[in-house]
Amino acid sequence: MAENNQNASAGNIPAKPKPAAPGAAKPAAPGAAKPATQSAAKPAASQSGVFKPQVDRPAANPYKDSKVSPIAAWFQERFYVVLPVIDYLKKKEVPKHRLSFWYYFGGLALFFFIIQILTGLLLLQYYKPTESEAFSSFVFIQQVVPFGWLLRQIHAWSANLMALMAFIHMFSTFFMKSYRKPRELMWVSGFILLVLTLGFGFTGYLLPWNELAFFATQVGTETPKVAPGGAFLVSILRGGEDVSAETLTRMFSLHVVLLPGLILLLLSAHLALVQILGTSAPIGYKESGMIKGYEKFFPTFLAKDGIGWLIGFALLIYLAAVYPWGIGVKANALSPAPIGIKPEWYFWAEFQMLKDLKFEGGELVAIALLTIGGVVWAIVPFLDHKASKEEKSPLFTLLGLAVLAFLLINTYRVYLEYGW
Ligand code: HEM
Repeated sequence: MAENNQNASAGNIPAKPKPAAPGAAKPAAPGAAKPATQSAAKPAASQSGVFKPQVDRPAANPYKDSKVSPIAAWFQERFYVVLPVIDYLKKKEVPKHRLSFWYYFGGLALFFFIIQILTGLLLLQYYKPTESEAFSSFVFIQQVVPFGWLLRQIHAWSANLMALMAFIHMFSTFFMKSYRKPRELMWVSGFILLVLTLGFGFTGYLLPWNELAFFATQVGTETPKVAPGGAFLVSILRGGEDVSAETLTRMFSLHVVLLPGLILLLLSAHLALVQILGTSAPIGYKESGMIKGYEKFFPTFLAKDGIGWLIGFALLIYLAAVYPWGIGVKANALSPAPIGIKPEWYFWAEFQMLKDLKFEGGELVAIALLTIGGVVWAIVPFLDHKASKEEKSPLFTLLGLAVLAFLLINTYRVYLEYGW
């Protein structure tokens, strides 16, 4: 805070007496009589007759002499407490080096998330989350609602692109060791964001209530049953023994209420940390002169981010218009499961692993390995002590390569067997 105040007075804001912390009492003069207690004090009325509580506040708006427009001055008078924070944020700089390109993927994940919120809100105007109407409301959106088909396609494609960007962003921050001290919580909050993003995909998959989604959800919610406590978790998720209308209600409420709330909370923390701690450079780059300079986050980097968003938007519209997702046929619990049931691509690696461990107790082994692996991955910043001391940590680079290879190879194997 002390630094912020310095920043503020160093900028275009005139030098001013340091305001006391809001609510802080003035030091009493030696020998002065004790102030009257709150209950004994009479509410003071000003000359105009307006009630004024007896609170010792700092002089309002210490920035009142700064040269700003009347509208800005109006807001400044009310929100002057946050000005040092804004001043601090304005000083954020992004290092320029040969890997700077990878910094754009976090912003792209954010962009596709914003698209999801906007298109999701519009789809909600027509979607009906009931067993009898879910599928027909999707057909209605696709075929009758003006531009409904485009909205639905954008929502479906943007979900996939958001997950893809989050994965690329995660691995790029991993290999640049951006998680090292003091950015540990950026990594942990990011990891939770990825889990929530995958949760969005999983819960959204069932919403069209088509055959493929119905049986894929059946399979996807069956596996955790073998783990201790898994059956309980599955019954909560399904709202009963099997996938049914209850499951649709649960998936819907998770998809439009709980997950958006959680993701907004985590995203706020993630982005606040990005602003407070700034962007890191890979280990040793500064010392070996590989940093080609720094650029201001506001507005230079943000403007470049904007160009990335425009490219992302063009790609999104292209995919939505040229490669539409089908609707399939309405789910029927009594019909036999179609052949080739598989989850969304971002679960393929785990799906393949479950297929590979097809021996007695294999599913439990797979779940245990995936859980342990996930936990280790989530707490990597606390395990990589070398990176925290700004030393290279090749062992963790190898770990990252192994995880990446596991995901890519297994995903490709599912693609080879089932196609897209
Ligand atoms: C919904 C998903 C996510 C969004 C919207 C998001 C957004 C962002 C943004 C905008 C930045 C600043 C620019 C940049 O460095 O790219 C950032 C930085 C960062 N993110 Fe994420 N992120 C997400 C997921 C993740 C994941 C999955 C991880 C890792 C598990 C992660 C870890 C980090 C780290 C360590 C940084 C700091 C980079 C640095 O200082 O060099 N984020 N994130």
